[in-house]
Amino acid sequence: MNNQAVDQKKSIFTVLIGIISIGLILWIVIAFTTNRKKNLIYLTGFSEFASTTNNPTQNIVKKFESGYFDQYLPNGFGKTYDLQSCVLEVSIDAVEEYFDQIDLKDLSKKYANVHFIHMGLYDSYPAFRLEYYAHNNATFSVPDQKGNQPYEQLIETSKPLGFARSTDFPVFDMQSSIRSDPQLSIPSTVDVVVGTDAGTFVCNYLYYSSLMFTQTGNDLSYEFDSISSLFMHVPGYTLDENVEDDGGIIVCDVMKDLFSS
Ligand SMILES: *[C@@H]1O[C@H](CO)[C@@H](O)[C@H](O)[C@H]1NC(C)=O
Repeated sequence: MNNQAVDQKKSIFTVLIGIISIGLILWIVIAFTTNRKKNLIYLTGFSEFASTTNNPTQNIVKKFESGYFDQYLPNGFGKTYDLQSCVLEVSIDAVEEYFDQIDLKDLSKKYANVHFIHMGLYDSYPAFRLEYYAHNNATFSVPDQKGNQPYEQLIETSKPLGFARSTDFPVFDMQSSIRSDPQLSIPSTVDVVVGTDAGTFVCNYLYYSSLMFTQTGNDLSYEFDSISSLFMHVPGYTLDENVEDDGGIIVCDVMKDLFSS
């Protein structure tokens, strides 16, 4: 072999090594970035019911969808969190359909943490209530939007009537950080409290279903880092004329808490 041929072989070899290492670096970068799972927040509100034609929880959801509340979220929030929002009809059927279309196994492939934040109206209560408990007891004092009015019906058949499920959200810590948020017009008008009873209507039905869904979902070991659910009751417009902004900012505070933990 002459010197020229040896040189040619050497340079081909160098080029090959170069291509292989660039490929390897690209592969590592792609594998690293795509393997990092995002987090998901499901946000729900309710539409009209009984004499309530303008449900603030529905309007809060719409404002999240329009990006109105982005200003209250930390920089980079959207890079690590996806938001899926939905306005539910006030009915058992709507709640059942909502959870039926969520495939936890599928989600666990894409998301490390999944959190549900539900909102419902508690018109006459003068505070935002982060609800701690929901009860396995569907007893409605009025029919829902589909005309169903259960009496002492089980939501979860394998647990006794009245059984309580509680949230995994650190609600008491959240309450104090929310109270000190200067962007809120509360507590000059209304307060933020921790509630121990999500009521006896579709709000309790939704919250119990959600706690059951997330807590039994976790038992199925789909390998989420965490999956949890929180329900917040919001007051009516007469008690807090800024209920949409206040409610949305509180949801942002809860998200910030999740983001930083
Ligand atoms: C179910 O809820 C209704 C309405 O709040 C209540 O009257 C009843 O005592 C509850 N039943 C149980 C077993 O908790």
